[in-house]
Amino acid sequence: MQKKQTETPNRENWETLWINANIATMAEGNVDYGTIFNGALAVSKGKIVWLGTMDELAIINYSSRQILDGKGKWLTPGLIDCHTHIIYGGNRANEFEMRLQGKTYEEIAFAGGGILSTVAATRSASEQELLADAKYRLMALHKEGVTTVEVKSGYGLNLETEIKMLKVAHLLEKELPVTVEKTFLGAHAIPIEFQNNSHGYINEVCNNMLPRISELGLADAVDVFCENIGFTLDETKQVLEAANKFNLPVKIHAEQLSNMKGAELASKYHALSADHLEHLCEEGIKAMCNANMTAVLLPGAYYFLRETQLPPIELLRHYQVPIAIATDSNPGSSPITSIQLMLNMACTLFKLTPCEALAGVTVNAAKALGLSDTKGKIAIGYDADIACWNIEQPAQLAYQFGVNPLTALMKAGKVVI
Ligand code: NIG
Ligand code: FE
Repeated sequence: MQKKQTETPNRENWETLWINANIATMAEGNVDYGTIFNGALAVSKGKIVWLGTMDELAIINYSSRQILDGKGKWLTPGLIDCHTHIIYGGNRANEFEMRLQGKTYEEIAFAGGGILSTVAATRSASEQELLADAKYRLMALHKEGVTTVEVKSGYGLNLETEIKMLKVAHLLEKELPVTVEKTFLGAHAIPIEFQNNSHGYINEVCNNMLPRISELGLADAVDVFCENIGFTLDETKQVLEAANKFNLPVKIHAEQLSNMKGAELASKYHALSADHLEHLCEEGIKAMCNANMTAVLLPGAYYFLRETQLPPIELLRHYQVPIAIATDSNPGSSPITSIQLMLNMACTLFKLTPCEALAGVTVNAAKALGLSDTKGKIAIGYDADIACWNIEQPAQLAYQFGVNPLTALMKAGKVVI
């Protein structure tokens, strides 16, 4: 009787194998993109299960259901936009015109425009309308390689509309192959019902909205706008304390228009990140460093508000605070839904290196969202969220703008673009 052929025990059976690709793993911090030239990687059950060079692959006993030939192109981790406000009603093109005629962002906000005008439009929009508009924006990010996005509430400023926004954030994840991290930003502005009573509104956020949102499991994190047109340091502290009580991680909009020492305060509450930071001082940076926080820089808002105060890049580097880059996509300060433009602006406006910029939308953006163990790198055990680019060197991702070099996008092991 013929002996039954058995497979060698160490044969690898993969679902998908990428071959002939240069791989910017982003696994080695900011140095040389962690590149594997002429590499290959295997994917099974949504995870990266093997990674190496083509030479290393040649001596392995494997089979793969699907083989994707990279033909010398570049693979990077799927991009992560770690700070957005893409769910909102209406637009603020009128305020853009007012600013061009000399009004400042603060003046418009103090006069009842700004965030509050978007609050009115968001309250009157239906869930379906908000979803359709936000999906359109998320699609634009996704087509540029985004596989994970953070989305904030904060244009409801009452329980009903904040819940509506967070529900839309959950629905977005069902509509598109993008992981959506949801952040409750009830403390974004003082709503009209609480005019001149910020104390009353903060109590509402901490004692009513936050407990309910936590109970419903609608948010992954809590954010506060600590600013002269937002909330004071004391009010911010109250929100951070309440979030800690509900075991929700915190983050903060800080030092955007002035130095309120918000980043320093947030560091005491183990914040994931402090975001904007144009006016951040050295003390704040030290505090962020000691608390292992990420600095999220938002070049779109810097550009759109014609800000001139640069964030303290050199000091952030000196204290080795990881720098993430995000669109801040929102109707007031950054009506921009292009992560590729942010890569370019991070370099042209903030003088980041192209490698730092790419780290800002991959490994460091994952850190800003508390997702360092699963996303932002091409490494074994990590989620198979992978972008394939028709470029000759990774610096091109930041160097050029307008042609979209994305040729394929994999989300959780499935080719979705
Ligand atoms: O991140 N700074 C506060 N929030 C947004 C702007 C919101 C708005 O103007 O609608 C930001 O810039
Ligand atoms: Fe923001």
